[in-house]
Parts: sequence; structure tokens; C-alpha cells
Amino acid sequence: MEVVILPDPESVARLAADAVERLVRRGVGAGPEGSGPVGAGPVGAGPVLGLATGSSPLATYAELRRRHRTEGLSFAHVRAFLLDEYVGLPADHPQRYAAVIERELAAHLDLSPGAVRGPDGAAADVPAECAAYEAAIEEAGGVDLQLLGIGSDGHLGFNEPGSSLSSLTRIKTLTAVTRADNARFFAHADEVPRHVITQGLGTIRRARHLVLLATGASKAAIVADAVEGPVTASCPASVLQLHPHVSVLLDEAAAADLTRANYYREVYTGKPAWQGL
Ligand code: F6R
Repeated sequence: MEVVILPDPESVARLAADAVERLVRRGVGAGPEGSGPVGAGPVGAGPVLGLATGSSPLATYAELRRRHRTEGLSFAHVRAFLLDEYVGLPADHPQRYAAVIERELAAHLDLSPGAVRGPDGAAADVPAECAAYEAAIEEAGGVDLQLLGIGSDGHLGFNEPGSSLSSLTRIKTLTAVTRADNARFFAHADEVPRHVITQGLGTIRRARHLVLLATGASKAAIVADAVEGPVTASCPASVLQLHPHVSVLLDEAAAADLTRANYYREVYTGKPAWQGL
């Protein structure tokens, strides 16, 4: 696991966007680099991104929009899978995660129609939808780069504390903490759905590169638990410690409780430029 401590949230967003850009520019059939092949799916398939919602990736999405608009970064050959979706929101609700990703990212890029897929939170047969979602990720060749945020209770995706570290896509019940945290996106706290469909921790672990973004003092304690604490279902994000290629991108505030912060800084400063994340 590589922990990168940066001066501010803008630097976190730029570095995350660099990692996405590097993947996207490697393009179709560019062959293996790092921990696995890009877009190992059907012939002609390109890179596969994993997209998170919530506040943490918003600045990264803004930076990717800017690079598309002003630097010609094309996403025409990219496919993407969402981490999770609320269950039970009306099809036209602006807080459906599919709508959020469309608004914040997809609508501004040159993605092909149907290139972005998320779990269907309105599915009549939820277990069948979850199985189909797992199969779709697999058919695409798996996720090359998964962007992640961390919940204040340690959730990853919507895998709340107690989630199996090997879980696959399924329905979960949000904790009271998560519903309170997410109330800021809704007119009333009791509008926040109780249920979600989320990729499991086992699903997330299959992605070839995991990039966790955390900024602000409110994330400091849980980041320290996830990165330096024991691997435990009580802190689902601690499962990152079991993955061979993880980048944890933090601003100073989110890094404040790390005991090995100076070591992480030394490692990153001394890293060869060619290595990337
Ligand atoms: C969202 C998701 C969640 C969020 C987490 C942090 O798709 O999977 O795990 O990443 O709740 O949310 P923010 O970034 O709003 O603090």
C-alpha cells in the first residue's frame, strides 16, 4: 500500500486524475503495465474505470472534465462501473448515483452510449441484478482502476462494518451514521434510503488498482484505522491492506492521525518519476 500525503485537496484530485489519465492514454491493446493488463475483456475493449460517488471524488471528476475539455483527453474507449446505488429512489431522483455520475462526469465526456453501468436500484429481482452486475464486470475484463472514498464508519462502497471481506455485490442496510452523513444530499434526513446495492469487498478487491481518496480532518481517525490498524470487518476499508496495488491519496488534514506519516513522505519523495502510482 502506498500512502501519499499532499498539501491540499486540489493536489489529491490532480494526482488521482493523473492516474486515470495514464490509464486512459495507455488505450486499447497497449499491453500490460504494473499489476495487470488494461481492459483484459473482449477484443477491442479499452480501460475499465470504477467510479465512486459522494464528495471525495468530485474534485477529481472536475479535473477530468477539464482535461477532456481543454487537453483533448478522450474517454471514447473507456467503460466504467459504479460502486453502488441506492435502492428505492424514484427513477428521476437527482441523488440516484447513476444520475450523480451522469451529472458530475459522464455527460461532459465523450464516452460511448452505455459505457457507464451501475447496479439497478429499482430491480424487481435484487439477487438476480447483483449476479448480473458481477457478471458484467467480469465480462468487461474486470476493473483496471477503482476510485474509492471512505465512510466515517470505515465503509468502502457501502460495505458497512461487519461486511464480509470476501463479499460480492448484494443488498446492504446503511448504518445510522452513514444515513446521517449522507443526509446533506437530501432535503430531509428521513429521505435517505435505508438500503443500497453495493459491490462487495471481494468485488472491489478484484480491481487491479485501488485509489482511495480522503480529504479533511473528519476522515483522519478512520483513515488511520484503515491504513495502520488491524485488518477487520469492523473497519471494512482495512481490507485495502490485503490488496497488492493500493494508492491512498490524502491531504494533510486527513493524514493527521497516521503514525508513519514521515515514512510515507520519505518514500514518496524518493520515488522514481517513471513509477507512477
Ligand atoms: C460512494 C461510496 C461511499 C463513499 C463514502 C464517502 O459511492 O461508495 O463509500 O465513498 O461514503 O463519502 P464522501 O466522499 O461523501 O465522504
